[in-house]
Amino acid sequence: MTDSSKPARWHTHPDADAVATAAANRILQSATDAIARSGQFRIVLAGGRTPEKAYRLLADADTDWRCWEIYYGDERCLPADHEERNSVMAREAWLDHVPLPPERHHPIPAECGARQAAQSYRDTIATALPFDLVLLGIGEDGHTASLFPGQSHPPAELVHPVHQAPKPPPERVSLGERALNDSREILVLVTGAGKRKAVQAWKQGDALPVSRIHGLHGADVLIDTAAAQ
Ligand code: 6PG
Repeated sequence: MTDSSKPARWHTHPDADAVATAAANRILQSATDAIARSGQFRIVLAGGRTPEKAYRLLADADTDWRCWEIYYGDERCLPADHEERNSVMAREAWLDHVPLPPERHHPIPAECGARQAAQSYRDTIATALPFDLVLLGIGEDGHTASLFPGQSHPPAELVHPVHQAPKPPPERVSLGERALNDSREILVLVTGAGKRKAVQAWKQGDALPVSRIHGLHGADVLIDTAAAQ
């Protein structure tokens, strides 16, 4: 359900590089605030290609990696080292280049299959909530994580197995609305002309999966001019 009391806040930047820089800065500020508040920073990573530039910037960041706990919003059911895995992208761009304690990196075991991986990750997520920051992308159809239009899931379920996803691969695992919304901050990264229609639908109030993720205090959307027109 879209919570009209928590509208998205739109922040337009000239291009994808500027979005990546703004995203990296926001993530690091969120980490500083969380670590000062609680001694740790629980972040959920976005998949796809959009966040890669921001992840590469974070590889050079000066922060206390011992306080970070890294989770994933979704994962594709592919072998753990497959180049199309969201966790492989995040590791190659960022996580393999920083001293993050391995026990604080929580990839989704999607190589085990959607049903088994979802069951296993529910236990992981149940002990992680609430998150400090959830990063998300948006698909051209308005999907986010692996929550796709026209697919429904049990609302109370923290982590869903996803079958017949319209974006390959068809088998996926995704955090559900309940888990994604249990976060102090939501940061959505949107770049490129291909996302224009989804952005327009979102702004006009269409009930898209991405528009139902508002966190505890509303979502911030970092968007470049190509996607915003
Ligand atoms: C995935 C992502 C997915 C992604 C959007 C945008 O596994 O594909 O989780 O939700 O964020 O599809 O993808 P791009 O950033 O590649 O445009």
